[in-house]
Amino acid sequence: MQNLAQTLTAQAINASLADLLLTLADTSKAISQAVRHGALAGVLGATEQENVQGETQKKLDVITNDMLKDALKADGNVRGLASEEEDYVVEVSKDGKYLVCFDPLDGSSNIDINSLVGTIFSVLPAPAGELTEQSFLQKGRDQVAAGYVLYGPSTMMALTTGNGTQFFTLDPNSGEFLLTQDQVTITPDTAEFAINMSNQRFWEAPMQTYIADLLIGELGPRERNFNMRWIAAMVGDVHRVLCRGGIFTYPTDNKNPQKPYKLRLMYEANPMAWLVEQAGGKASTGYQTILDVQPTAIHQRVAVILGSANEVDTCLSYHGQDYSQEPQVD
Ligand code: F6P
Ligand code: MN
Repeated sequence: MQNLAQTLTAQAINASLADLLLTLADTSKAISQAVRHGALAGVLGATEQENVQGETQKKLDVITNDMLKDALKADGNVRGLASEEEDYVVEVSKDGKYLVCFDPLDGSSNIDINSLVGTIFSVLPAPAGELTEQSFLQKGRDQVAAGYVLYGPSTMMALTTGNGTQFFTLDPNSGEFLLTQDQVTITPDTAEFAINMSNQRFWEAPMQTYIADLLIGELGPRERNFNMRWIAAMVGDVHRVLCRGGIFTYPTDNKNPQKPYKLRLMYEANPMAWLVEQAGGKASTGYQTILDVQPTAIHQRVAVILGSANEVDTCLSYHGQDYSQEPQVD
């Protein structure tokens, strides 16, 4: 089986980007170890700190953030980084060609219940000149690599460099990520949806109607029954969608008018949207293709609707727009 380095060579990825992706992969192996040791290593539970988004940081949020930061600083190919756990962008190497945005441990509320968590990353080209937050505010369409590492029963990496979406599985014997699925393809149709139903009363009218129609099942306009799943870690829900199709959404809600969206654009929505598009699926805010959203801040949040292409189109048709004829943007 091909390992990650061999796959990047076969894809003709330039040496600097390949080096950086191998650094991310190596760090995720170490994170996988930390996560697996759990209570034995005293890494479960919360710290007394909050991140810039007002969320209490788990010990593993801080540990994994430091691991990634240290590794990217040592790598030499990284101009700057932005993390869910860093208030501001961090300058790394003057000569680095890339910017890395990451969520070091997505789904961290799952840590203490020994459930799915993962690392999400997005790589952008570094513009010339001084490094500021503005340097990072590039559309998802500009990403040169995106992926996640899922710390599940097996540790898996999903990766795209624009050559489709690949799955690699960490071989515990050799310690290598081996290519286990070359062209991941999301089925265009599905009968499975993922949404936090407890927010139902706070959603916009189009999402209320769409989900109500799924719930009526074969008695309603969809004329078939739907199943529901919610892992409470985007990385786990998106992985399921890549594996067997489905629609995943964290839509706009008015629970807290100051915070109408939950997921972060730069290190959650954008990398997942590209992985999904590269696997033949779609990803939208409900009104705009996620990869075409112009970012305005590194910690900006967006509504997310992604997954099986036909089901996303159906959901978008409730939002007053028929996206099924939307031209594909390369
Ligand atoms: O990073 C935010 C996140 O943890 C996602 O991974 C996940 O999809 C969502 O929040 C879970 O939200 P909720 O707490 O509403 O289930
Ligand atoms: Mn997250």
